[in-house]
Amino acid sequence: MFFSVPGETYVRGGYEERDPGNTKVAATFLSEMLSCPVMEIVPKERYPRDYGGQVERAKKEWEGALRPELETCPGVSAYDDVYLCYPNWCGTIPMAVATFLESNAWVGKGIHPLCTNEGSGMGSSESAISRSAPEAVLGPGLSVCGTDVRECRPLLKEWISRASSPLSSRRCALISNWIYPDEGNVWP
Ligand SMILES: Cc1cc2nc3c(=O)[nH]c(=O)nc-3n(C[C@H](O)[C@H](O)[C@H](O)COP(=O)(O)O)c2cc1C
Repeated sequence: MFFSVPGETYVRGGYEERDPGNTKVAATFLSEMLSCPVMEIVPKERYPRDYGGQVERAKKEWEGALRPELETCPGVSAYDDVYLCYPNWCGTIPMAVATFLESNAWVGKGIHPLCTNEGSGMGSSESAISRSAPEAVLGPGLSVCGTDVRECRPLLKEWISRASSPLSSRRCALISNWIYPDEGNVWP
């Protein structure tokens, strides 16, 4: 499952056009390795394309601990393990990911968090996930540098091998929070 924003993104001190967005690239590689269904977390209200507008809205949502309504909120009842891919926004999960987590029941399920970022690593995203899905068992997180996402396959492979349970005996899904093909993404 994933959340990602194609378009302009922050790359080592400058901006670059990236389509698809970084998290979608990582989620796509991961889905090829896991051979599992891929689901997208889609917010109802589109994020603005321009960088300033996007950061402004993300900050407002974060500061107000808002839970943006979702157009598509993946259900996880059929799965044991969820690979959750999202960008680091303001040091934590995008608030749309919190909406998704709080809309599902997590008893007996594992969450494997993958966070793309430009230097803050996982930030406090793992504790935010635990707060929103306290019953879930959280696997080790993977931080992926957005700038270098196209080279992340070896990292993913190693991460999957560390997953707590044998994948063959678990039903897994990949859920990601990406935004929209035409939306922009820039930081800071
Ligand atoms: C609103 C917003 C906030 C961000 N906050 C951070 C941050 O706090 N730390 C960080 O390292 N990167 C931050 N970034 C950069 C993104 O995490 C990074 O570019 C990510 O790979 C984008 O993924 P995407 O292209 O799938 O949206 C932010 C980007 C945006 C748009």
